Amino acid sequence: MKVLLLDGSPKKDGATSLITEIIAEQLSKIHIVESICLGDKRINYCIGCKACHIDGICCQDDNVESIVHSIFQSDVMLTVVPSYWADVPGQMKVFIDRCTPYSNTNPNRVEVIHKPKGYVIALRTGSNPTECEEIIKSINHFYGHMEIEEKGSAYFCRINDRSDIEKQRDSITLLCDEWFQ
Ligand SMILES: Cc1cc2nc3c(=O)[nH]c(=O)nc-3n(C[C@H](O)[C@H](O)[C@H](O)COP(=O)(O)O)c2cc1C
Repeated sequence: MKVLLLDGSPKKDGATSLITEIIAEQLSKIHIVESICLGDKRINYCIGCKACHIDGICCQDDNVESIVHSIFQSDVMLTVVPSYWADVPGQMKVFIDRCTPYSNTNPNRVEVIHKPKGYVIALRTGSNPTECEEIIKSINHFYGHMEIEEKGSAYFCRINDRSDIEKQRDSITLLCDEWFQ
């Protein structure tokens, strides 16, 4: 199985990236794993021109197409995303906007036959899970319009930095076993 781990944080060595590292370590024993951190990528803002509504092609030339290619090459995608101001980080939102050529709201969208199954993990520093649940809803909304079937979600609250994720290593490994065998 091909697994894509999409790190929606701009921080390449943050708490979010440690979650993807733990999962990659676990899954790469039996699956083909690709990890992408949006913080490593060049992703321009959507300018709202809707040229992609005419021919399914975005007028911009950056890393978005290759990320989307990786999504549609995978059997499973897991988006791991921190709360920034009670929402997804700007880079994640800009990436979602730029997926408009592939959205089922686009009358001339790019047709894709193979779609992965979708999973989400949200994390935040605060203790109330509601904020993580809202972020999970945003990612599932994105999956819905990409026609990526949502299969599971989880969240971690009270996460300040990587050391707090290190304490959760066993539960992340268990979650991995539960979701991906
Ligand atoms: C700009 C910014 C805004 C944040 N806003 C929130 C917030 O609204 N609620 C919250 O619980 N945590 C918030 N946090 C904390 C992050 O969710 C938390 O530190 C997370 O572990 C960061 O993951 P990262 O290290 O991968 O960036 C914010 C962090 C940053 C940098």
